[in-house]
Amino acid sequence: MMVLFTPCLCLWLGAWVSTTSGLDFRYHNTVEIEQYLKAVNRNYSSFTHLHSIGKSVEGRDLWVLVLGKYPNEHKIGIPEFKYVGNMHGNEVVGRVLLLHLIEHLTQGYLSDPEVTRILNSTRVHILPSMNPDGFEASDRDCMFSEGRFNKHGVDLNRNFPDAFERDEEEPREAEVRAIMDWLSSESFVLSANLHGGAVVASYPYDNSNGGAELQRGSSVSPDNDVFVHLAKTYSFSHTHMHKENNCYESKDFKNGITNGYYWYPLSGGMQDYNYVWSQCLEITLELSCCKYPPESDLPGLWRANKPALLAYMQQVHLGVKGQVLDSTGVPVQNALVEVEGRRNLCPFRTDKNGEYYRLLLPGNYTFKVTALGQESITETLSIPHGPDVYSAMTHNFVLQRSSSSVPDVTQPTESCTSKVRNPAGSHSVALLASWFVPLLSMTLRSLLV
Ligand SMILES: *[C@@H]1O[C@H](CO)[C@@H](O)[C@H](O)[C@H]1NC(C)=O
Ligand SMILES: *[C@@H]1O[C@H](CO)[C@@H](O)[C@H](O)[C@H]1NC(C)=O
Ligand SMILES: *[C@@H]1O[C@H](CO)[C@@H](O)[C@H](O)[C@H]1NC(C)=O
Ligand SMILES: [Zn+2]
Repeated sequence: MMVLFTPCLCLWLGAWVSTTSGLDFRYHNTVEIEQYLKAVNRNYSSFTHLHSIGKSVEGRDLWVLVLGKYPNEHKIGIPEFKYVGNMHGNEVVGRVLLLHLIEHLTQGYLSDPEVTRILNSTRVHILPSMNPDGFEASDRDCMFSEGRFNKHGVDLNRNFPDAFERDEEEPREAEVRAIMDWLSSESFVLSANLHGGAVVASYPYDNSNGGAELQRGSSVSPDNDVFVHLAKTYSFSHTHMHKENNCYESKDFKNGITNGYYWYPLSGGMQDYNYVWSQCLEITLELSCCKYPPESDLPGLWRANKPALLAYMQQVHLGVKGQVLDSTGVPVQNALVEVEGRRNLCPFRTDKNGEYYRLLLPGNYTFKVTALGQESITETLSIPHGPDVYSAMTHNFVLQRSSSSVPDVTQPTESCTSKVRNPAGSHSVALLASWFVPLLSMTLRSLLV
């Protein structure tokens, strides 16, 4: 019997392998990735869109593949999500995983229920490599390589405007400018930035100037509860990130997560920039002890991260979303939508469609909505767990025209288009104390994130 069955089995297996193993587990170079993304976009044009958000210093395109039921443009109520890989050119696991994620999403759309629900409810943007020049310049060393930096030798995760530093107009690298322009062209809600050299999910803030955010060695943001939930979603959906002690001699990360500053402070990082200036909650994922692991490790890394990458995307549906409208139903742009007890450095504002998205854990929250020429309103909302149903709760705020001539608008303390600083005098002593402990770990670890 077995003899008769064997050829059938082989044929069947052969067919199965050829349809599911399109993308091989190896390091594709920049040209190959470009060809792959173009082929994906051709084959799945109804739910993908491919565009370049700019060029690297050496002129390589920064390709972004957008996936979703409406890939070409934002639709009201559909949140924008993104993954960014390979910001440090020698940290290559994220770049590989994002290509496999693209393959999984494109092959599963309209056949795999989980993928279908994600892509019907979310617009997903994937930038497999933010630093293609660094990748091309990289050798395969586990820890150090020049490929970390861009062509100008600049660490891109130190080159963003920083909310906690003095007002220096540092020149921005081409790759950083491309990201900043991208952030202002789309209203991203949730994001992750994929790195290597440790196994941990790290969340804002990465920096502090010794103000009220500094609490027992961590730099705590007003949305800390949400960030902890987001980081834990990743670490516990990952096969072993949450088990701690994944890399020899690395810090013991409880539950596989850490506050960025607590690990070690850094300025000019991308996650703080996303959160403070773009209202986009971003975390930093460290995905392998070795930054450039042997190719034979890649299938296992995909298996370990795949459920986490999917579960994290679904968190874009936390909390509440909707529009701010005036009494005639016209969307109000630039309205402040503030949640009591959460003083964001830059208050969240509605976009050009009058839309807001606010990631919150289930519970009751009081919102204050303020706009020029309108009466401000305060409403308490009871918010359920949106990810279960692939949609945040929808709630529109309707404002009445203000009868008084004095505009009732809470002014942010300083302009959020450039720098945000704590009130003068809040640093000094606290600052000194806060720097003492992390100093050692900073010098040891300054080349990780
Ligand atoms: C695109 O479709 C062609 C023709 O069916 C196929 O050979 C190729 O592998 C596909 N590529 C991708 C990336 O889906
Ligand atoms: C997703 O959207 C497609 C295209 O509109 C539709 O055919 C499909 O039924 C939807 N599936 C789910 C699970 O929402
Ligand atoms: C939220 O408020 C409702 C009443 O509006 C109450 O039943 C519920 O227990 C509250 N939930 C929490 C988490 O406080
Ligand atoms: Zn890194």
